Amino acid sequence: MTKPQQVFYADGDTIANMEQRYRAAFINSLSGFKSANLIGTSSSDGVNNLAIVNSVFHVGANPPLLGMIIRPHTVRRDTLENLEATGQYTINHINQDILRQAHQTSARYEAEVSEFDAVGLTPEYGKRCNAPYVAQAIIKIGLQKKQVTELEINGTVLVIGQITEVMLPDNIIAGDGYVDIEKAGTVAISSLDSYHNTQRIERLTYAKPDLPVSAIGVE
Ligand SMILES: Cc1cc2nc3c(=O)[nH]c(=O)nc-3n(C[C@H](O)[C@H](O)[C@H](O)COP(=O)(O)O)c2cc1C
Repeated sequence: MTKPQQVFYADGDTIANMEQRYRAAFINSLSGFKSANLIGTSSSDGVNNLAIVNSVFHVGANPPLLGMIIRPHTVRRDTLENLEATGQYTINHINQDILRQAHQTSARYEAEVSEFDAVGLTPEYGKRCNAPYVAQAIIKIGLQKKQVTELEINGTVLVIGQITEVMLPDNIIAGDGYVDIEKAGTVAISSLDSYHNTQRIERLTYAKPDLPVSAIGVE
């Protein structure tokens, strides 16, 4: 007889009593695969800043809004302070070629140090957004800050921005507007240190109660 698989069980008290780093890795793993982005900002003194963020999410398509969660503002947070001061920031998809440099931006550099220089990435500028883009990124999104709200539950900060411009290669947009981020080499993140290539299973048709879904062809 095969040995039954052991189940790892943790309740709220077990989680509260976990060693801090273990708990962070454990809980950060549970929200699944997340997006991998670099947030570009500039200070009011003109110092460029770059920070890796895995919390970007969709808020709405019309107006086009994206959200992200920034850690509590109990210490200096350059991204948050810059986007509050200038009202502008960029979201740049991370691809395999810039993975290590992107990860390195999470180090706590001094405010006067540009992470672009520190990690070897190149700032680039668009037409509508004053914040710097990452030249090496394939998908680049410029945003105007719309709402910054400190969450009562744990002091983290919800930032919502409206998209002012988007730059990406035209061969990765399908006829129906779908952006093939896999074709662009965008990677995914699990926990705070694990990077993944993706492989599409299938795209499916809009679900209706009386119709089975079917696959949409992808060029
Ligand atoms: C994979 C990964 C994902 C991260 N995601 C976030 C995030 O969503 N929000 C956040 O505030 N910090 C996040 N961080 C931490 C920031 O990158 C880090 O605090 C950075 O130093 C912030 O830089 P800044 O002070 O220049 O804004 C993440 C770090 C890593 C390694």
